[in-house]
Amino acid sequence: MPELLDAPAAWDLLRRLRTTDEALAAGMVPDGDGGLRWGRPATPEAQELAGRYLPLCLAGPEVAFAQLGQSLDGFIATRTGDADFVTGEEDRCHLHRLRALSDAVLVGAGTAVADDPRLTVRACAGDNPVRVVLDPRGRVPRSSGVFTDGAAPTLWVVGPDAAPADPGAGAEVLVLPGAAAFAPVRLLATLARRGLGRVLIEGGGVTVSRFLHEQALHRLYVTVAPVLLGDGIPGLRFPGTPVMREALRPPLRRALLGEDTLFEFALRPAGGPSGGPAD
Ligand SMILES: NC(=O)c1ccc[n+]([C@@H]2O[C@H](COP(=O)([O-])OP(=O)(O)OC[C@H]3O[C@@H](n4cnc5c(N)ncnc54)[C@H](OP(=O)(O)O)[C@@H]3O)[C@@H](O)[C@H]2O)c1
Repeated sequence: MPELLDAPAAWDLLRRLRTTDEALAAGMVPDGDGGLRWGRPATPEAQELAGRYLPLCLAGPEVAFAQLGQSLDGFIATRTGDADFVTGEEDRCHLHRLRALSDAVLVGAGTAVADDPRLTVRACAGDNPVRVVLDPRGRVPRSSGVFTDGAAPTLWVVGPDAAPADPGAGAEVLVLPGAAAFAPVRLLATLARRGLGRVLIEGGGVTVSRFLHEQALHRLYVTVAPVLLGDGIPGLRFPGTPVMREALRPPLRRALLGEDTLFEFALRPAGGPSGGPAD
């Protein structure tokens, strides 16, 4: 009898897969539904991991995916900026898996200032992605962990008037010529030229909304926690439609993560055209 594949072993195989041939060589077989599943005896958790993450693993060398964890009433932090923690432990594992499947994890200046995040992979096995901080005005303190802890390479993306003289250990400064170079599609192209094609846009709301509105995202993961904040830092905000029938309704998958619900939106196939504001 072949050994039962458990979730940690399945994740260890999955996180390295980038092509269908590699998946087949790792023992996956067609699931009859257009996808792949483990062909050998596997725990339900191992099969679930394959179902949830294999499409992202196989999305190709250039794919942009974003995540947000929000309250039921649409906030990603309280009004003071506290986001510890909006969603539960299973969503934290999910977030760390997304990091492990990316070449770069990108945050806006607001998140870097409010959270001083580490942006490393700790809740699952995996390599740390390059950390990218979008900071056109150079307002993120240079004492921030991403610039000083040396845990992973960091790219500090600033505007022409904001270049810091001494960025600190472990941070490379990329000075962009002006606002147009910060447009999400151009930013992704700049990162791809540096070998960072698979990009997780981790937050916050302003940054993810901008990437969504400019059609720069292939996938969007929103985890909704059963908590009501009343007010706070908003999640997705973009110019809406006047009538419901024109609202954005991308193809969707749903999963339960403990008490939270994960919504995974397939916005466009990776490798397809992207860019330009949403209609
Ligand atoms: N629950 C979650 O999943 C989650 C995830 C991440 C963060 N958070 C929380 O979210 C809050 C911060 O979110 P936020 O929406 O206020 O801010 P944010 O998205 O983190 O940062 C927004 C800022 O980043 C810069 N920026 C981002 N994209 C840019 C672009 N394409 N071009 C130019 N500049 C760009 C701009 O800086 P300038 O203003 O300097 O121009 C912009 O105002 C924090 O409280 C954090 O705790 C929650």
